[in-house]
Amino acid sequence: MSGEPTRNSRRLADYRKPGFLIPQIELTFELAADATRVTALMQVKRQQPTVPLVLDGQQLELQYIAINNIELRADQYQLTSEQLIISDAPAEFSLQITTTINPAANTALEGLYLADNVFCTQCEAEGFRRIMFFPDRPDILSVYTTHIIADQQQYPYLLANGNNISTEKLANGKSRVSWHDPFAKPCYLFALVAGNFDCLSDSFTTASGRKVSLQLFVEPGQQSKGQFAIAALKRAMRWDESRYNLEYDLDVYMVVAVDFFNMGAMENKGLNVFNSKYVLADDSIATDKDYFNIESIIGHEYFHNWTGNRVTCRDWFQLSLKEGLTVFRDQEFSADMGSATLNRIDAVKLIRTAQFAEDSGPMAHPIRPEQVLEMNNFYTVTVYDKGAEVIRMLQTILGQSGFNRGLACYLQRHDGQAVTCDDFISAMEDANEVNLQQFRLWYSQAGTPTVAIHQRYDSDNATLHLSISQRHTATVGQPDKQALLIPLQVQLLSSDRKVNQQHLIMLSQLTEQFTFADIASEPVVVWENFSAPVKLQQDYKLPQLLLIAKHASNGFARWDAMQVFWSDLIRQKAEQPTLSLTLPDDLIKLMRQWLQQPLSDKALTAELLSLPDFDTLAEQYQHIPVEAILCGLQSIKQQLADVLAAEWQQCYQATTSGPYHYNENEVGARALRNRCLNYLALVPQGSQLVQQHYSDSDNMTDTLAALTSAQQAKLASFGELATDFSHKWQNNVQVTDKYFSLMACDPTDEVFTHLTALSQHSLFSWKNPNRVRALFGAFSMRNPQQFHRADGKGYSCLAQVVARMDPINPQVAARLITPLLAWQRFNDQRRDHMLAELKQLAATSNLSNDLYEKISKSLP
Ligand code: TRP
Ligand code: ZN
Repeated sequence: MSGEPTRNSRRLADYRKPGFLIPQIELTFELAADATRVTALMQVKRQQPTVPLVLDGQQLELQYIAINNIELRADQYQLTSEQLIISDAPAEFSLQITTTINPAANTALEGLYLADNVFCTQCEAEGFRRIMFFPDRPDILSVYTTHIIADQQQYPYLLANGNNISTEKLANGKSRVSWHDPFAKPCYLFALVAGNFDCLSDSFTTASGRKVSLQLFVEPGQQSKGQFAIAALKRAMRWDESRYNLEYDLDVYMVVAVDFFNMGAMENKGLNVFNSKYVLADDSIATDKDYFNIESIIGHEYFHNWTGNRVTCRDWFQLSLKEGLTVFRDQEFSADMGSATLNRIDAVKLIRTAQFAEDSGPMAHPIRPEQVLEMNNFYTVTVYDKGAEVIRMLQTILGQSGFNRGLACYLQRHDGQAVTCDDFISAMEDANEVNLQQFRLWYSQAGTPTVAIHQRYDSDNATLHLSISQRHTATVGQPDKQALLIPLQVQLLSSDRKVNQQHLIMLSQLTEQFTFADIASEPVVVWENFSAPVKLQQDYKLPQLLLIAKHASNGFARWDAMQVFWSDLIRQKAEQPTLSLTLPDDLIKLMRQWLQQPLSDKALTAELLSLPDFDTLAEQYQHIPVEAILCGLQSIKQQLADVLAAEWQQCYQATTSGPYHYNENEVGARALRNRCLNYLALVPQGSQLVQQHYSDSDNMTDTLAALTSAQQAKLASFGELATDFSHKWQNNVQVTDKYFSLMACDPTDEVFTHLTALSQHSLFSWKNPNRVRALFGAFSMRNPQQFHRADGKGYSCLAQVVARMDPINPQVAARLITPLLAWQRFNDQRRDHMLAELKQLAATSNLSNDLYEKISKSLP
């Protein structure tokens, strides 16, 4: 890596307005597996004098190029491996270009690819340049007409964005289908799909009375597995109308499920493409989590129609403009469809694990990055999920109606435009007549702030004094930071419950004093809802934490108090290994109460009874004490299982569920019952119970709960149950992925045997990202025992997978490498192993930009 020239990244500061616009484009695709012909006819208009017309293009074969119908001579343009440049283009002209591409050879799944006999495009972020020569940037908005020609038998459905305008049968067994999308869009929203599908049709009548035809395309024979997704789509459409007054705008909304896909789904205008994992479901194969994900991703892509498509991004540094906002919208939708508390807890878990880790590592970047080599590397938890937290803070500060006003102003003002995060904030300011200048720093400052609250209660004057400070640590390229505007939503609650009030504290200085008068007795300050993406420090001991866990109004806060208790306990043990881990009686008493009388929100009860996971705990240390965390967790878990054995048993029995239904109540009941089972697997009577649970189960949630409980408790029966499971589902890819993940989480040495064997399984393929992630993603992210082995065997296993994947699919390779980038956080032995793997990868020839960017940032 050191021997080669450094590769060039782009900077936000270098943004220039486009030299040319392309208001209209007409495309013709003649589909063929290894030589698809793409003809583009573009209307081009000069915007800036003298600049050359620069078109992006990669892995294309140029066949023909003409301006105003006159073919260009070779000396009239310049062709490199990445660009086509026309130096003196006229002011206004038509440009015709024909290229050929090879979809069958495209395993990167970016551009136009053929997999499983389906032609499919993925253009975001910069895949359009692998289809044709074009200025591949989101601020070029064009009206598209698309013609698709293909064999009718093999590819009965030929789909593109917008409305279908004609279908013709051609002489040679081919057909030609034409589409027109009246909304000008950036090329990253272009889509084409051709293949044989089952089609589920439905319709939706918008609030203003327009009838929209809904079509969901799935692999032939899978029709019944699309029902839930289409129902979820209708719920999302209704929700966006009632919450934000936003209606759908075309006559048809199509969703296609494909098995080969790099991400979750893609919001192409009028033609969403989904990873089949987030569409196909029925009660026998889907877990509660699968149903949740499907509804939330269906919502997410639908919500993009306004936040992303009608108003899009000026450049890719603004990605959070559409993604942070749309994640926020899908979170609000999910909260309304199910348990709002649970949704919040899950979102916070993700921020505290993956996002905090990213923010403290070599890839740290603000939600609006300033420098990018490979854009695909910036579809991150920071841009998406911290981005959503930033939007949520705006809602907290402005109130829901103020926020909605701001959003309406933004959409109205910028409809049909490609804009910036700054434009979004300006709309919020103008609609609410506030100044958000300081708030804008959230877009430019990376890193996780630490907020500390010190309280002093003056009983003589019945006054509470809070001294609140924010601390910022340096991140790559950002040594100095300024104070942020941090909204802290709190409840003041005293143990006699005489003090019970809610406040929104706006912290704007590095250190600031806040005084509350008429406070009759000393309260705890309960942080509600994780109102800002920060680490909060309060030094509460057990009595205060118990008060919060028992009596806080906010479900998140109750759960958080328990998390703080367990984290502190494990920290003490890590710092003082001789300490014996004893569980306080008051705590056991409280847990016993929850088991005897679960709260009405059973899912919250299950969370209150759960220990933090390895990643959450790891994030709280500069140097991660792997063994201490793993041993601490195991010891506490065993003690809880033993001490409360009768209560786990009793709650397990009392929390019955009838035949499977996916709804809030039953999801909660299953979560609680399976939590009990998970503890019970650790006591003598548990083994029998786990087997019974497995054989009684009529759904995937309970089946997997039995399997993972047996696996974690290392029960002798695990092998038999797992074999039964794999045989039962051997012909089903979705469930086989679950089996792969299950086996990859084996906490024993055996896991390496499983990984080797399963990578030769008949359904496994290195070309299918779902398979690779199911097996090796699960191993590296959900099996800390074996992945973080001190001998480095886990790291070398992952590094080999990354090396093997990079030439096939760099996007997937670059996502998988993430845990190795954090070598600084581990002790010498692990650090050396990780570094050795990274250095070896760095020395690979033809390393993709995706991996190059991450590895070069991580290496010392
Ligand atoms: N815009 C998509 C979403 O968030 C993300 C996405 C889908 C994507 N496919 C991709 C991003 C490929 C990068 C590369 O809904
Ligand atoms: Zn998105």
